[in-house]
Amino acid sequence: MSENTNSPDWLDSTREEIVVSARDYEHVLSGLMMPEEYFLPGAKIVSVGEGLSSFISELNQKFDVEGIAFDPMYQHGPKKEIQKQLTEGQMVYAHLREDKETDSEKGPAENEMVAGSVYDFPFKDRSLDLVIASYIAEHINLKRALPEMVRALKVGGEIRFSAAHFDIDPNEKIFLPFKTEYDGYEGTTFPSQTKDASEAIKWALKQQGLSLYVVTNGYNHRSEVRSEGLINSGLFIVRKDSKAPVVTTDINPDFGRIFKITSKPKLKEYIGQGFEVTELVPAKA
Ligand SMILES: C[S@@+](CC[C@H](N)C(=O)[O-])C[C@H]1O[C@@H](n2cnc3c(N)ncnc32)[C@H](O)[C@@H]1O
Repeated sequence: MSENTNSPDWLDSTREEIVVSARDYEHVLSGLMMPEEYFLPGAKIVSVGEGLSSFISELNQKFDVEGIAFDPMYQHGPKKEIQKQLTEGQMVYAHLREDKETDSEKGPAENEMVAGSVYDFPFKDRSLDLVIASYIAEHINLKRALPEMVRALKVGGEIRFSAAHFDIDPNEKIFLPFKTEYDGYEGTTFPSQTKDASEAIKWALKQQGLSLYVVTNGYNHRSEVRSEGLINSGLFIVRKDSKAPVVTTDINPDFGRIFKITSKPKLKEYIGQGFEVTELVPAKA
């Protein structure tokens, strides 16, 4: 993949239309597989790469939490000003999203927006209860981002990356955090995949008090990869303690299987080096 030399430092993605997606509350929540019981009164919650999504605004209306929308895009000002900065292609994409998935009146309000990059996270050490990253794992360099997010997380807090399209082989108990051949968008190969994920995982496994989990979302890869037994992990969770995360699941038996990543490297023939995992929730019949 060639680098976009015009991109500012914070932008690792070269897929411009992805930069402006605007998912609604339900869509973000289902990707995070998160029970609403996690939104405890007084909780400080940051959505990294919130973009034009309406998740935080609705979260703040529904719960007694301090929800913060965080995105480099907010340097342009409120939503209207951001929209002025978008290219034609980005506008089309943002509007498509709005028509289909969001109410255009929603999106982050000015007092909910903090501009910045996750690489230089402007939150104090151990100040956040929950950090969520909906559809941004594939746009960032995880090795740069994860230490910053972990630093700002309270003990007992959690980071959830939805759409972390990593591979997992539930039968051989291997997690492969580099995505083999995922067809992200209707048959096209996703050009901006999560960067340095293996390095980030290795770093995280060495940190005291961190526990790492991956959750299957039941979407298999291309048929030939499926025959290798790989399932899309879909959700990646980092906890600052050893308590297992709670996930809400669907009826699909491959959906919502939680695996804890152990520090043991493990090799999968033809595919490469991954990490051993232990399943926490047995597969449904
Ligand atoms: C696909 S959009 C996801 C928007 C929203 N979270 C959702 O689910 O609809 C990716 C977002 O990541 C943001 N982003 C890109 N690089 C970033 C960085 N270094 N730090 C924080 N956010 C970043 C982009 O500005 C964009 O809003």
